[in-house]
Amino acid sequence: MIIHKAKRCSGELTVPGDKSISHRAVMFGSLAEGTTEITNFLQGADCLSTIDCFRRMGIEIDNTPERILIRGRGLHGLKAPSDILDAGNSGTTTRLISGILSAQPFETTLTGDSSIQKRPMRRIIEPLSMMGADITSVKGNDCAPLHITGAPLHGIHYRSKIASAQVKSAILLAGLYADGATQVTEPVLSRNHSEIMLKRFGASVHTEGTTAVIEPEPVLTGQKIDVPGDISSAAFFIAAGLLVSGAEILIRNVGINPTRNGILKAAEAMGGSISYLNVREDGEPTADLLVKHSALHGTTIEGDIIPTLIDELPIINIMAACASGTTIIRNAEELRAKESNRIDIMTDYLSAMGCDITGTNDGMIIHGGRPLHGTRIDPHMDHRIAMSFAIAGLAADGETEIADDAIVNVSYPGFYEELQRLTR
Ligand code: S3P
Repeated sequence: MIIHKAKRCSGELTVPGDKSISHRAVMFGSLAEGTTEITNFLQGADCLSTIDCFRRMGIEIDNTPERILIRGRGLHGLKAPSDILDAGNSGTTTRLISGILSAQPFETTLTGDSSIQKRPMRRIIEPLSMMGADITSVKGNDCAPLHITGAPLHGIHYRSKIASAQVKSAILLAGLYADGATQVTEPVLSRNHSEIMLKRFGASVHTEGTTAVIEPEPVLTGQKIDVPGDISSAAFFIAAGLLVSGAEILIRNVGINPTRNGILKAAEAMGGSISYLNVREDGEPTADLLVKHSALHGTTIEGDIIPTLIDELPIINIMAACASGTTIIRNAEELRAKESNRIDIMTDYLSAMGCDITGTNDGMIIHGGRPLHGTRIDPHMDHRIAMSFAIAGLAADGETEIADDAIVNVSYPGFYEELQRLTR
């Protein structure tokens, strides 16, 4: 895709459904009794991988553009798949399903694409093994493919070194099948969609500070879930609205769960003008966001806010490159464990565009305000890298070329079309 400097950026849009919530709706609906109906489901490649895995385990899932219908078979209704399960590019699918598979009365092998096969799985192998799971990395490198043989599980209290909703959720899902309560304590609270939605399906889950506790063997009951728009997808258009001269964008129906809304706080700390309209709540809070072009300045992003904007740090880097002054990002070493090594890739390509950026062990230091010029970006199988540099291209001189047009389909099918509609 070729991106040119934008002369305008205005209009209204609705971003696709939240990726994290869409995955969970399919998983919990499959484990519930009765029918689950999901509207505004994200038809992105990652969530389709989750659907495919549950279909392979005997769950009937009817996917139409209007809604997903899942005929749940209850906590103990999954069937042994006849083949390997393929999570594609999706870390959420891989890690959360591992928690469920650890307790099933059958064996499975779970794999994914070449990016997934490089991502760390020790973080789930360790706690699930402590619960009694028989889970191994087939190649012995702590990555997928994983071989999982279901086993009786014990409730544990796991103290995680990292704030990770994928790790927390894998343990909580295994905890549905344990012989007693299961607790997960995180250093900082990570996104809490699993806790919110499991409770809605009928599980007994509660939270004390950064500890989530789940009781085993609930009866989960099918639900109607209307998925809010994904704030991680909205983030690209928030940045476009803030950066392009004269821009004004209204983004409708965006999830603003406090464990996910760090991008809004960071943008405001940088001087961005974002108004919340029509704030409402149905389990997950949502709002319409009105974003106006703003003169941004640098800020420091560190500590407890990091998990609430972890997926948005690549686009925050682009905002920082265009802001005046210095932006410092710390405590974000998890960026190295995402779909790509986002510290190295952001540093390399932003430097190539003319930005003064230095990568550190756990973040980056950006001296913003230098003019950016276009270059060719290889997203390294990372959808958020592709979309972040597409937005950088709106602010850069010359042509910015983003390779691998299809990678954005992982989380945002139609992203480039929307970008063109609002900027042409
Ligand atoms: C996710 C959790 C986060 C996030 C990912 C989605 C989830 O990962 O980066 O895009 O749906 O639970 P970690 O749990 O590895 O931080």
